Amino acid sequence: MNRIITFTFNPAIDKSTTIGHLVPEKKLACSPPVFEPGGGGVNVSRAIRNLGEHSTAVYLSGGYTGRFFSSLIEKEHLDAINVTISGKTRENLVVMDVSTGQQYRFGMPGPTVSEKEWRPCLDIIGKSSVDDFIVVSGSLPPGMPAEIMGEIAAIVKKRRARLIVDVAGKPLEYALQEGVYLIKPNLSELGAYIGDPGITETEVYQATRQIINRGQSAAVVVSIGASGCILVTKDEQVMIPAPLVKPVSTVGAGDSMLAGIVLKLSKGAGFLGAVRYGIACGTAATLRPGTALCHIDDVEKLFQQVLNNASVTMATW
Ligand SMILES: Nc1ncnc2c1ncn2[C@@H]1O[C@H](COP(=O)(O)OP(=O)(O)OP(=O)(O)O)[C@@H](O)[C@H]1O
Ligand SMILES: [Mg+2]
Repeated sequence: MNRIITFTFNPAIDKSTTIGHLVPEKKLACSPPVFEPGGGGVNVSRAIRNLGEHSTAVYLSGGYTGRFFSSLIEKEHLDAINVTISGKTRENLVVMDVSTGQQYRFGMPGPTVSEKEWRPCLDIIGKSSVDDFIVVSGSLPPGMPAEIMGEIAAIVKKRRARLIVDVAGKPLEYALQEGVYLIKPNLSELGAYIGDPGITETEVYQATRQIINRGQSAAVVVSIGASGCILVTKDEQVMIPAPLVKPVSTVGAGDSMLAGIVLKLSKGAGFLGAVRYGIACGTAATLRPGTALCHIDDVEKLFQQVLNNASVTMATW
């Protein structure tokens, strides 16, 4: 298995709690909170660990919340590299209203990070080699310009490693301008990329085909929640449906999906095989409550279903 290194520039302590009934202006009694280390790359590393494999999680953290974040990482038994910053690591809040079963997710912006603080991460990427998979997932904190994604893509290219990105907005644009190995936008992130929030199926195929034809990414995976995903590469254009389940919480589905994809790619699978496994991991995450990621026993059952489901090859043009 090749090395997988995940990067989380704007991690968060995910604090989850439940409440009987959410109402304004009243004091609300919450259940004892559960604390988990979150942020795209960290979640990908945790999901890979749940799948019984290994990766290295590089993350920025600082202040007393940063120390608490690192203690949560230690409890997860992840191989991790902490790059220390002076600002305080953010805390996000997930509140489940038991009366409706609805989840409210409050995300904080994160501390401002200086170039002196984030530059060491690029130095780590600069030491990657041809066998490595570099995963950058999640938002950039204030102070880290979107152009950095282009710089990261250039460094990875120079090292002849492979870059997998799950970022949205301007950072995605800069990454694609330079060229990457795989991107995994969801439908609305792809819509934002082409400047059309109401993106149609035809536009999905046009936009992804254009990205591939321009050589901006070797593979594009557009995830579409319960509908599964569309995989587009130079040679294929496939719709892979997700197994039908009754979801408990869809939080962490995208990160679990990405974990499954990069894990299989690192073991030598082709894009289609890796993305089929990723679909099983994403759907598996929806079977677990709160912010929980995929579990391997669910993944194995669902992967069989994905293999049994027919993937639909779309007409090329
Ligand atoms: N309701 C669902 N039922 C079955 N599978 C689902 C459901 N929601 C998500 N999934 C699975 O998870 C994958 C990723 O989901 P989605 O497209 O919602 O990602 P995302 O928007 O990036 O998620 P996140 O909020 O975690 O960033 C889907 O392709 C699918 O396999
Ligand atoms: Mg996502």
